[in-house]
Amino acid sequence: MVIFHKREPLRRELLSLAKEGKTIGLVPTMGALHAGHLSLVEEAAAENDVVVVSIFVNPTQFDNKEDLHKYPRDLEKDIDLLNAVQPGILIFAPAVEEVYTGDIAPSSFDFDGLEFQMEGKFRQGHFDGVGTIVKRLFEIVGPDNAYFGEKDYQQLQIIRTLVKKHRIPVKVHGCPIRREENGLAMSSRNERLSDEQRKEAGFIYETLKTVKAEFGTKSVQEIREQVSEAFRKHPSFRLEYMEIANAETLRPAEQKETGQKYRAFIAVYAGEVRLIDNIALN
Ligand code: PAJ
Repeated sequence: MVIFHKREPLRRELLSLAKEGKTIGLVPTMGALHAGHLSLVEEAAAENDVVVVSIFVNPTQFDNKEDLHKYPRDLEKDIDLLNAVQPGILIFAPAVEEVYTGDIAPSSFDFDGLEFQMEGKFRQGHFDGVGTIVKRLFEIVGPDNAYFGEKDYQQLQIIRTLVKKHRIPVKVHGCPIRREENGLAMSSRNERLSDEQRKEAGFIYETLKTVKAEFGTKSVQEIREQVSEAFRKHPSFRLEYMEIANAETLRPAEQKETGQKYRAFIAVYAGEVRLIDNIALN
């Protein structure tokens, strides 16, 4: 395993590996790694000669300074975890100045309206920040393949659009959501939950499974009201949104139409910690 803090030495190493005909897989992360991240690394390792994992808490995608400040960081632990699953890995862990030369500001992107739905409504500028860093990482690493989790399904769709619109020669892979035993989607933010909250948070996935069971029999409106009511009664969580949307366009669905794929998306606060999850409905 080799750790790069600077982009130039990484770039040189990768160019020489690419010249030897080696394929490169990239897994972008913000660290505080868990089994969800490691499943992406394993998929990348199975499909590429070289795997690069980037660990960078990207300031421009946080609309909330407090959330950026409190984001868990433990590079030593991340390195140990990666070493245990893939000893041959290359880690790119740059400082902010190494990625943002000049202003620490995002570029502005047009993602065909995907950026205005759900997370885009509640986290102003978030996807400009994500687009900026992911495009930059693609430029630095030049991967053949890049791996993203369906946990952040809207982000995954946005990155597919980024790649298409900017004609970036990388294949984007979407990987399934890894969950804790009680169904809670794994997330670095789960570390900030109390033991009690973490236990109770299985309720979020339970809710999504109920939505899935009822989609097609009850109306979207009815399901939405039922979910709002269930969260109103729950003392530990505050629902920000639950949306049933077309899986491609992410536009809200009013009813199930044949030939279309749908997903349910949810964002919930447990105290100050914001959790998101989603499920395929058909
Ligand atoms: P981060 O939240 O660290 O997630 C890194 C990758 O791991 C993302 O593609 C995310 O969808 C995936 N992931 C997280 N939890 C997962 C789970 N439970 N199961 C499967 N995959 C999971 O997403 C980001 O970082 C950033 O926005 C980033 C793309 C790195 C840009 O800064």
